[in-house]
Amino acid sequence: MAQAPSVVRDPGLAPEGRLKIDWVARHMPVLNEIRREFERDKPLSGRRVAVCLHLEAKTAYLMKVLAAGGAEVAIAGSNPLSTQDDVAAALAEDGVSVYAWHGATPEEYFGFIHKLIDRRPNLLIDDGGDLVATLHGARRDALPEVVGGAEETRTGVMRLRNMERDGALAFPMVAVNDARMKSLFDNRYGTGQSVWDGIMRTTNLVVAGKTVVVGGYGWCGKGVAMRAKGLGANVIICEVDPIAANEALMDGFRVMPTLDAARLGDFFITVTGCKGIFGEPHFQVMKDGAILANAGHFDVEVDVAALRRIAAGTRTVRKNVEEFRLADGRRLYLLGEGRLVNLAAGDGHPTEIMDLSFAVQALTLQYLATEGKGLGGRVLSVPPAIDRQVAELRLRALGVRIDRLSDDQAAYLASWKED
Ligand code: ADE
Repeated sequence: MAQAPSVVRDPGLAPEGRLKIDWVARHMPVLNEIRREFERDKPLSGRRVAVCLHLEAKTAYLMKVLAAGGAEVAIAGSNPLSTQDDVAAALAEDGVSVYAWHGATPEEYFGFIHKLIDRRPNLLIDDGGDLVATLHGARRDALPEVVGGAEETRTGVMRLRNMERDGALAFPMVAVNDARMKSLFDNRYGTGQSVWDGIMRTTNLVVAGKTVVVGGYGWCGKGVAMRAKGLGANVIICEVDPIAANEALMDGFRVMPTLDAARLGDFFITVTGCKGIFGEPHFQVMKDGAILANAGHFDVEVDVAALRRIAAGTRTVRKNVEEFRLADGRRLYLLGEGRLVNLAAGDGHPTEIMDLSFAVQALTLQYLATEGKGLGGRVLSVPPAIDRQVAELRLRALGVRIDRLSDDQAAYLASWKED
């Protein structure tokens, strides 16, 4: 099929974007190894791959690796504020079909996803579930050609499991998020570092000595809380899961309901995947100067509409910082419009972390290209061999050696009879 022309904000930005992509490529050794294998074996030859991911430099490099594997690649952004226009321009220049720009309106955002689907993809990578949901809604015409796909994030996996439960999923989707080489590193260390990177570069304020309230204590919340503690903050965790709440207590954090925490926090960070974590009742008791940031996939965790409704006035006081002046004179500050603060106000997770996540993605697509047909409309786990391969490649790249089980040890672990 002829390549549909890319839609990017400014093709003239390509040189800056290319520098960014070259920088990350130097720091993604696992993906580089996979690229070499893909160039040699062309496992994605003849496949049309549609990708809906945060379009920044690491993502662009993954697109180049998929193209090196023989795929025809098209990408749209998975969030209106995470696309970097210079990166998009460089990628388009390199022959990938790009439909994305920073600051897309909701109509443009879904229009770009429709353009992806117009390519009649066989394989998908989704981040948050909007591509898959559109395929199963307005664009069922394209379902028959889809062999399968991979989902990057927990919110997307939750949506997929709901579809699977309702018998609505038309093809296999692999939960890349749940792979050990993804969630243990990306969700914890990636979110932990990139959220603070985004907040600190945006506010230029100190964290030490402040009270940080973290909504959600999954892997992402653990990472955000751990790094807040390392920066010298007093950390409060809000949870609805009693097991996670106990974990937080044993990790040394205070645990309390959101309404109690609302009176105490200097920084509020949501990482729950659910909506309405901080809303009007919380805003009414927050301290003057409190800062609100979201790191969950969708901009539903901080009730921005309520904030706008109760505000006597708003203004932008720094790039990505909006001030909401309340009737009693208190001011609350919202970062990155309440969208993923690490991507809307930063560059996303560190490069070496995305090396692991995207290595899992690339190998999962290779798996689907050969095994996808006949797997059915199910949510599948990443095959353990892929997790292991990525882990081994990373250790090899770092020059780290580990022991192997002896035959005797392996037999011991596989036995159950008394000796
Ligand atoms: N960069 C590309 N995709 C990302 C993601 N899902 N989270 C953080 N950084 C990213």
